[in-house]
Amino acid sequence: MREQTTPLDTTVPNQGIADILYVRFQVEDLAKQQVFLEHFGFAVERVDGYLLARGTDANRYCYIAEEGPAKFLEVGFEALSHQKMLEIAALEQAQVSALEFPGGGSGVLLHDPDGVAVRIVHGMEQPQPITPPRRAPLNTGEVKQRLGERVSFPHQGPIVKRLGHCVLFVNDFRTSEAWYKSRLSMLTSDEITGASEDKPTGAFLRCNRGEVYVDHHTLFLINAGKSDFNHAAFEVADWDSLLLGHDSLREQGYEHAMGIGKHVLGSQVFDYWKDPQGFMLEHFTDGDLFNEANGSSIKSPEVALASHWGAGVA
Ligand SMILES: [Fe+2]
Repeated sequence: MREQTTPLDTTVPNQGIADILYVRFQVEDLAKQQVFLEHFGFAVERVDGYLLARGTDANRYCYIAEEGPAKFLEVGFEALSHQKMLEIAALEQAQVSALEFPGGGSGVLLHDPDGVAVRIVHGMEQPQPITPPRRAPLNTGEVKQRLGERVSFPHQGPIVKRLGHCVLFVNDFRTSEAWYKSRLSMLTSDEITGASEDKPTGAFLRCNRGEVYVDHHTLFLINAGKSDFNHAAFEVADWDSLLLGHDSLREQGYEHAMGIGKHVLGSQVFDYWKDPQGFMLEHFTDGDLFNEANGSSIKSPEVALASHWGAGVA
């Protein structure tokens, strides 16, 4: 199986997107979903028939739900500036309008080649971050940071920090890749080989913020011959939060999907769950951070599915 680390992106397009910000769903039972989201580790607010769920980072929401037949509705990305948002809107001749949710700001609604709603937003008010649960420092074999202190977990607050990435099945990878790269200025971290160069299995894409380090992937497009939501992944504070969350969700009787393991591509420790609608949501921690100098690689599907340890990806 061919593998290489030759850069795929030889030119760096304009930077445009700071990060992924939220995913939005329709769910059949809003009350049941709220209970799940709180167990999953969000702080949830109910506003005018919507659930707005946030993590400990200073964003008003990173998950939105409204009542209706189960459906993935849209994914939101934050532009680096108001001007960048206007430039992206101009590429699609789309109009910028005020956002409807608390926190204000403005956004432009685009549709990717499969018709998936992608909103580019900017200017939302930033709430105070929530102090995440703190654990005493980690002692490793070589580095002893916790001296004369016990480990305890007295804080039972939210464990979700932020939305980290979204994974979509796409009809035609090359078409979708070109759209996300031209509109959102994304870079390839790892492209996964497939039947031919024109038909790769997919690719992990990251934001382009120049020298600033970003997550190994913000978007993973899977060349599936169909359009669908696969999963959204939320970062948690650390391994203890992830494992405590795992035990808590299992005790509550929720459906486990995959994990716990550590991906080879991206290095995240992962734990995937199904929400009451069957949408897959992930807790992750300890992921790789890349900047523009890290370039792009080509990897085999075997590597993409592999784990350093723990469960593999089904
Ligand atoms: Fe993931």
